[in-house]
Amino acid sequence: MTEQLTVIVLAAGGGTRMKSKTPKVLHPIGGRSMIGHVLAAVGALDPARLVAVVGHQREVVGPHVTERVPDAVLAVQEDQLGTGHAVRVALEALAEAGLAPESGTVLVANGDTPLLETATLQAFLDAHTAASAAVSVLSGLVEDPFGYGRIVRDADGFVDAIVEEKDATAEQRAINEINSGILAFDASFLADCVTRIDNDNAKGEYYLTTAVGIARGDGLVVSAHAIEDELQTEGANDRAQLAALGRELNRRIVTRWMRDGVTVIDPETTWIDVGVELAPDVTILPGTQLLGATVVAEDAVVGPDTTLADCEVGAGARVVRTHAQLAVIGAEANVGPFSYLRPGTVVGDRGKLGAFVEAKNAVLGEGAKVPHLSYVGDAEIGEGTNIGAGTIFANYDGVNKHRTTIGRHARTGSNNTFIAPVTVGDGAGTAGGTTVREDVPPGALAVSAGPQRNLLGWAERSRPGTAQARAAAEASGADVTLDTSATSE
Ligand code: UD1
Ligand code: CA
Repeated sequence: MTEQLTVIVLAAGGGTRMKSKTPKVLHPIGGRSMIGHVLAAVGALDPARLVAVVGHQREVVGPHVTERVPDAVLAVQEDQLGTGHAVRVALEALAEAGLAPESGTVLVANGDTPLLETATLQAFLDAHTAASAAVSVLSGLVEDPFGYGRIVRDADGFVDAIVEEKDATAEQRAINEINSGILAFDASFLADCVTRIDNDNAKGEYYLTTAVGIARGDGLVVSAHAIEDELQTEGANDRAQLAALGRELNRRIVTRWMRDGVTVIDPETTWIDVGVELAPDVTILPGTQLLGATVVAEDAVVGPDTTLADCEVGAGARVVRTHAQLAVIGAEANVGPFSYLRPGTVVGDRGKLGAFVEAKNAVLGEGAKVPHLSYVGDAEIGEGTNIGAGTIFANYDGVNKHRTTIGRHARTGSNNTFIAPVTVGDGAGTAGGTTVREDVPPGALAVSAGPQRNLLGWAERSRPGTAQARAAAEASGADVTLDTSATSE
């Protein structure tokens, strides 16, 4: 733990440009909320104290923060009177919790910068400490500085002040070095400074950036460190910016996996959440989304056009055109094309869940196969068993769900219906078209359809003059009278 580090995350603002009932900082990007990314980045610094300033929709934002960082302090800022006020509220909340930072560094970050990385923050904190600064600003050089606080330097290059857009002179507006919003403070300076920040400016807000001028006035050191990777401190204020940052975040994630030995055929159409784990020599084909906590083992091939959310894919498995959630796919198993694996589906090693098969809460043993056109709901299928094409595991009686259990090395026929609850024993079989309502003992063959009757001559009798009747007559070697008047049947 970094005893000397306190982190304040500002997240009280409304985010009106999102035009959303979801608070801005809770919008997801790369499989995490925006503030979730910031909390992960600052969390890896291992701070002794973390306080989040919440205001707008704090009943949603607050619990979201404490779910991720259980010992985070929540500071409530009823009215958003400015970033300086927000930091003051944060320090008051820390003091109330008996956690007021006596010394060390206080890092202030915004809750809406999802690309922020720990290494950047660590380098910034190191530079702040090395400079023995009262305040340090993580600055950025941008093409269009509109809307940002400008870093105003004196003739010797020392930072004099941060001037906000609305307060800036024309000359200051031309400055393209901006305040990223990430600042580091000497804790004791900050405690004194926040009580001296006024709201004497164009917006009538308490600006945290006023602290820079206060430090200079006190003859203290102020330093600014320019970030090279400016996107790391960029916030998303509307959904267009969110999508742009989302694409960039994804590009970074996909690039990292490729560098780590994953083959990605088309990075543009491959989406990988931050929480996903991939082994070397995994291959991802175009149009694939790997979401949540999905884990893929080596030599597996996933895609094309596949979505896996919170899934586990074993080594050497093949998953083609599949939609799966909370499912486990065993090593060297084959899934797809056009398979739908709902939560609780487990495909055993070397097993198969083939074309147009939907499964839910179904556990397939090693080498068990459901190759074609089936629904497998609430079932257990033993190792080496093969389920015939077009089988329905009828798990729902209209009120309750029931389970079907099929033993090892069973062979069930095509177009079966298993009316759960029912059990088929090891090594048992079922005939094609069987409706299995009762348990089948091990080794038995279940047959439920009645004996077949063939009504001879039926086509010629009942469908005279049709192509069907003519074909039947031809097959039986009878004389065929051409009936040209029969044009339709
Ligand atoms: C702020 C900075 C500006 C910087 C820019 C970078 C100030 C005065 N200005 O401007 O120099 O270039 O960020 O993006 O600090 N917040 C609160 N409570 C408040 C006000 C804001 O929690 O009372 C939070 C917001 O939710 C947001 C962050 O603080 O996460 C920044 O606030 P915002 O209003 O976006 O500041 P800017 O005007 O963009
Ligand atoms: Ca902003």
